[in-house]
Amino acid sequence: MKGVVLAGGTGSRLYPLTKITNKHLLPVYDKPMIFYPIEMLVEAGIRDILIVTGGRNAGDFLRLLGNGKQFGLSHLNYTYQEGEGGIAEALSLAEHFADGQRICVVLGDNLIEGSIRGAVEEFLRQPRGARILLKEVPDAERFGVAEIRGDRIVGIEEKPKHPKSRYAVTGIYMYDNTVFDKIRRLVPSARGELEITDVNNMYIQEGTMTFSFLEGWWTDAGTFDSLLRAANLVAEQRRRQREKAAAHSGESPGRL
Ligand code: DAU
Repeated sequence: MKGVVLAGGTGSRLYPLTKITNKHLLPVYDKPMIFYPIEMLVEAGIRDILIVTGGRNAGDFLRLLGNGKQFGLSHLNYTYQEGEGGIAEALSLAEHFADGQRICVVLGDNLIEGSIRGAVEEFLRQPRGARILLKEVPDAERFGVAEIRGDRIVGIEEKPKHPKSRYAVTGIYMYDNTVFDKIRRLVPSARGELEITDVNNMYIQEGTMTFSFLEGWWTDAGTFDSLLRAANLVAEQRRRQREKAAAHSGESPGRL
């Protein structure tokens, strides 16, 4: 399975932090934001990865990431989104790269504590369709929200005023190769974008959408509050890792 990281868009909700750079190059604690979704894919065993970016700072991604050596990769693929026509439009640019294979798509501003390896393995066992990862959150109205009946998702609403559940659809999506035909059938939403939620609802309607619940914390980092929250969550995770390592070696963890 191949991986796609979507890092286009203007990051207008983080202005003026994004006035002279791309949102995904901003720091989240000790690493640039884009490192986290790449590491998520690599940890799940996905090594063939495409970065979709755009705007005036596309060249900075090449300078920062190169061929992915710091992630243990020997090659990274890049493509460029003109404008910001939405997540599904950015994904449509991955068709040539996907070359008929299944893909795992991660939004460039999504961070997780745990692993998606189990969900990836389950998706590879399913004969076709799509799989999304859900997380229970207190502020579901900020996200795509899944309506679940029994063991099935019956629909997803994008940023509903009155969410039908507390289950946010995280920015981690697995698709078979019919995703590109589905994107071709989309029409722009009221905000003028091709919505990934509309793609997911097409899979739900054809009965091929499955889901997993994400273990550990999950956050986006596209607003001032979520960017700060992401940095704090990573800092806390690093602190725990240092404590654990120190406990193993019998040394003091040092200044935390
Ligand atoms: O974080 C999860 C949420 O992400 C989902 O629950 C929503 O269903 C989904 O629509 C999305 O919502 P956001 O409003 O947070 O999406 P945003 O416009 O902030 O875009 C998220 C990432 O997608 C962004 O970091 C880069 C990529 N993107 C976005 C747009 C609009 C692109 O690559 N190109 C684009 O044109």
